[in-house]
Amino acid sequence: MQIRFAKLSDKARVLDFCKNTFPWGDYIEQVWNFWYKEGYLLIFERINPVGLIHAYFYNSLVWIEGIRVDKNFRHQKIATHLISKIEKISKRNSVKFSYMLIDVQNMPSMNLVKSLGYKINCQWNFYTLEPKQNSNFKINFIDHLNKSQFPFYIDSWRWFPLTNKIILELNKKNQIVESKIGNNLSIGIITHSKHFEKTILVTIYGSDKICTDNILSYIQNYASENHIERIQVLSPEKLLSEKELDLKLEFNHMKKKLF
Ligand SMILES: CC(C)(COP(=O)(O)OP(=O)(O)OC[C@H]1O[C@@H](n2cnc3c(N)ncnc32)[C@H](O)[C@@H]1OP(=O)(O)O)[C@@H](O)C(=O)NCCC(=O)NCCS
Repeated sequence: MQIRFAKLSDKARVLDFCKNTFPWGDYIEQVWNFWYKEGYLLIFERINPVGLIHAYFYNSLVWIEGIRVDKNFRHQKIATHLISKIEKISKRNSVKFSYMLIDVQNMPSMNLVKSLGYKINCQWNFYTLEPKQNSNFKINFIDHLNKSQFPFYIDSWRWFPLTNKIILELNKKNQIVESKIGNNLSIGIITHSKHFEKTILVTIYGSDKICTDNILSYIQNYASENHIERIQVLSPEKLLSEKELDLKLEFNHMKKKLF
């Protein structure tokens, strides 16, 4: 067994087994160069690369993504070894929590991470929405958020805790929007994907239909004016909306305390 850092020359061989991973395909080809530059792109090698994992370290957490094992080499604990390796590196660097995202229907993966001690932290719904010109929506840009009510925001498909520093940075670029009607409130946090062109990710909190529609109308408008082609919406709530929101997948946000 050998786990090592990926080399640029591994790309072609890795993509051979990361093409049709899921019914909708895979995204490793699009993110490979970014992940390689970020570091901690690890390969499991058996003469050739047969397994892959990427880790993104951020303060006291590690975000694990892109776990893949060649079909011909599954059920040999390769994924277990890759995750354990990242956890070992994390602990050496005093990283306390490990997180990852798993499709609720991906039972092999859910079994895998549960066997390693991961627990479901919360569930998220993934929707897509088309850009469109809208008027008659009322939103405010805000510079404060109750972090216990709104614990995470999503940047390039990674869930990060909202800190005062992050809130300030997002607010500077008008990336936090609010719609408030009486006691009802919806929040939208917009980020631009680092990996995919013309793509924004929007974290939405709040289940009131009118407030959510206000936020979504603003987002559609923003996308249309900024030549954004893809709007990806993620919310812990099932969103009620008049908009043509397309529910694509549901995910479990998994968490493990490392020490
Ligand atoms: C999920 C995946 C990474 C597992 O890789 P693997 O190297 O075969 O996994 P391991 O051998 O380390 O399995 C460890 C445990 O996971 C669970 N598991 C793995 N594959 C399973 C399957 N097909 N069905 C049910 N449980 C499974 C089992 O509990 C297993 O323990 P056991 O062998 O003692 O029963 C691999 O199937 C894969 O690449 N799938 C497609 C990509 C994917 O879904 N990635 C994860 C996205 S986050």
